Amino acid sequence: MTDNAQATRTLSNGETIPVLGLGVWQVPDGKQTEQSVSMALEAGYRLIDTAQAYGNEASVGRAIRSSGIPREDIFLTTKFYPGSRDPLVEAEKSLRRLDTEYVDLYLIHWPQGGPTWAWPGMEKASEAGLAKAIGISNFGADELQELLKVSQIQPAVNQILFNPFDYRRALVEACEQAGVVAQAYSPLGTGQHLNNPVVGRIAEATGRTPAQVLIRWAIQKGLSVIPKSTHRERIEQNYAVFDFTLDDEAVTALDALDTTTQTPDALAPSDKWWS
Ligand SMILES: NC(=O)c1ccc[n+]([C@@H]2O[C@H](COP(=O)([O-])OP(=O)(O)OC[C@H]3O[C@@H](n4cnc5c(N)ncnc54)[C@H](OP(=O)(O)O)[C@@H]3O)[C@@H](O)[C@H]2O)c1
Repeated sequence: MTDNAQATRTLSNGETIPVLGLGVWQVPDGKQTEQSVSMALEAGYRLIDTAQAYGNEASVGRAIRSSGIPREDIFLTTKFYPGSRDPLVEAEKSLRRLDTEYVDLYLIHWPQGGPTWAWPGMEKASEAGLAKAIGISNFGADELQELLKVSQIQPAVNQILFNPFDYRRALVEACEQAGVVAQAYSPLGTGQHLNNPVVGRIAEATGRTPAQVLIRWAIQKGLSVIPKSTHRERIEQNYAVFDFTLDDEAVTALDALDTTTQTPDALAPSDKWWS
């Protein structure tokens, strides 16, 4: 157990979000999700990222309950599945599955059908106290700007695909300018970037693992980061990233891996699974 949970970013609603959390996409509902979340909480994680689309909210809720950690000490995120119609109704269902009275963050999972239609329902979920903060995911800079024009409550977070190969610098800057905390999903490229030779060389030179290098890079870019693992030693390893710094040379070498030309878009058009 470390005190890394104290490393936080401040959201526009005044609450803080831990810099490092556990993601549970593709972890089956049941024992595996429960164990992953339990192991993370034991390791010191205090941010758990799930979604209605992941189908594992009930297991996340059970692991949080059985941890004995006070609910207010855990930052819990879930996401509105935009194939549904009503964010408020779906939030109520999520809370029943999660067996909790509120989530700390409720995100529109992706801007299916446009960036603005779901926001009034998200605001209702916030006003009803079901979500302390509301935000977005997979929104590009243009979509963020459109949303900002109509929102009564500003989005607190934009959760985006972000790692050295997907270095969306202009998007991160747009988020920063709007006071929106950017959060990095797939920081390891869903595992695909762990064997890259540049990452491997930097890992060797710093005496760290490739996963730690990739997570640290995203933290040094100012983002909150949510790596996923189902293995205890990896969960612990991914959390041990607050006692070293990547030097300028390493950061520059990692920056150069970008394949997005520092885009303001959240995804390439061909990668948008909903359109
Ligand atoms: N908003 C969105 O649209 C969206 C999209 C994608 C992801 N996300 C969120 O972001 C989270 C993370 O992204 P991700 O699941 O795509 O993947 P990721 O965190 O980039 O990578 C996870 C993969 O790397 C492996 N791994 C983790 N730590 C490792 C280590 N220290 N050494 C070796 N291998 C390691 C994991 O294997 P094991 O599990 O077998 O250890 C898994 O295969 C998701 O779980 C989800 O919460 C959000």
